[in-house]
Amino acid sequence: MSLAKLNIHQFRNINAANLTFNNKVNIIIGDNGSGKTSLLEAIYFLGLGRSFRSHLTSRIVQHDHKEFTLFSEVIQQNLTTPIGLQKSKSGQSILKINGTISTKLANLTHYLPLRLITPESSALLTGSPKNRRAFLDWGVFYHDPLFYHNWARIKRLLKQRNAALKQCKTYNDLQLWDNELCLLSDKISEQRQCYFELLTPLIKSTLNDFLPEFEFQFQFFCGWDKNNKSLAEYLHDNFLRDNQLGYTTAGPQKADIRFKIKGFPVADVLSRGQLKLFVYALQLAQGLFLNSIDKKQCIFLIDDFSSELDQNKQQILAKHITDSNAQLFITLIEPNNIDKLFTQQHSVFHVEHGQITEQLENNR
Ligand SMILES: Nc1ncnc2c1ncn2[C@@H]1O[C@H](COP(=O)(O)OP(=O)(O)O)[C@@H](O)[C@H]1O
Ligand SMILES: [Mg+2]
Repeated sequence: MSLAKLNIHQFRNINAANLTFNNKVNIIIGDNGSGKTSLLEAIYFLGLGRSFRSHLTSRIVQHDHKEFTLFSEVIQQNLTTPIGLQKSKSGQSILKINGTISTKLANLTHYLPLRLITPESSALLTGSPKNRRAFLDWGVFYHDPLFYHNWARIKRLLKQRNAALKQCKTYNDLQLWDNELCLLSDKISEQRQCYFELLTPLIKSTLNDFLPEFEFQFQFFCGWDKNNKSLAEYLHDNFLRDNQLGYTTAGPQKADIRFKIKGFPVADVLSRGQLKLFVYALQLAQGLFLNSIDKKQCIFLIDDFSSELDQNKQQILAKHITDSNAQLFITLIEPNNIDKLFTQQHSVFHVEHGQITEQLENNR
């Protein structure tokens, strides 16, 4: 899958842009505040139906306008799918996929498998397990078609169970939720673990190039200690505590993936630049996995490519991301070195005060 065309209207400081992209490497250059991240944000919005910077549409719609519009052409196995999305400040959304109105923004995720890397992405390692679960589940979602259904069902069950927890007096009152919960939890954990085990060698081989000086240990935690007790036993034994807290303390909603060096979490050992490289290795592995095993093309949005990375690491990274066969959108402040970093044919876009222009090859 690749994004072939994108028209943007009244999105942040981009008033109007009609863009045709390279199916591999797209480099976006501009000064601070020119609109580079806004362009990535528009692509992200089209892929996920939401922004990575704000939950409020009113922040995203261009000042003094009522709505933004994105129109794109997505290429999937030689088939072109037009996708249009309009969102107004008042909260209305209109999504059209292939000319048909679609009521669910979640339907977008099937068209553009996006991975975003920004200077804040090291939160994947330094932040809460929620970030790592989201990372893992992204891959399982594309790998295993049954995952989404189980995941959505568990989310609903847990919500109902937590509401019931606050009201019930004995554990027996919860049995109704827990039979199904345990069954689905085992399934989800298996799906997650299986994906993580398949992904691990890809992550390790990328890390071997990025951070060869370290030896890493990886561990998948399913959300309860399986070797100790079954989830059913945990749910039963934790009843009093869960009842007081008002939520369920064991289960797949607590799953995590742990990365360590000599027994310490990587976040406590690596520098900021090294953490960023680690995150790149994780995401790149997912892109490779998607391409080689799931036969889908990943789209990487990389904001501020060079931040925190020395020249040598930038060079290694550029080689890996171009080799990954993904479609890339990379923002940079400094245009130096582009041709050295990205040797294969690529498109360059200049952004200035929200105006985006493609720089033709013979003018570079
Ligand atoms: N809703 C909006 N309407 C118009 N301009 C906006 C809106 N939101 C942010 N901006 C402006 O858009 C500009 C571009 O921001 P951004 O894309 O983050 O720049 P860059 O990534 O190139 O540094 C900023 O100057 C910001 O003030
Ligand atoms: Mg920016």
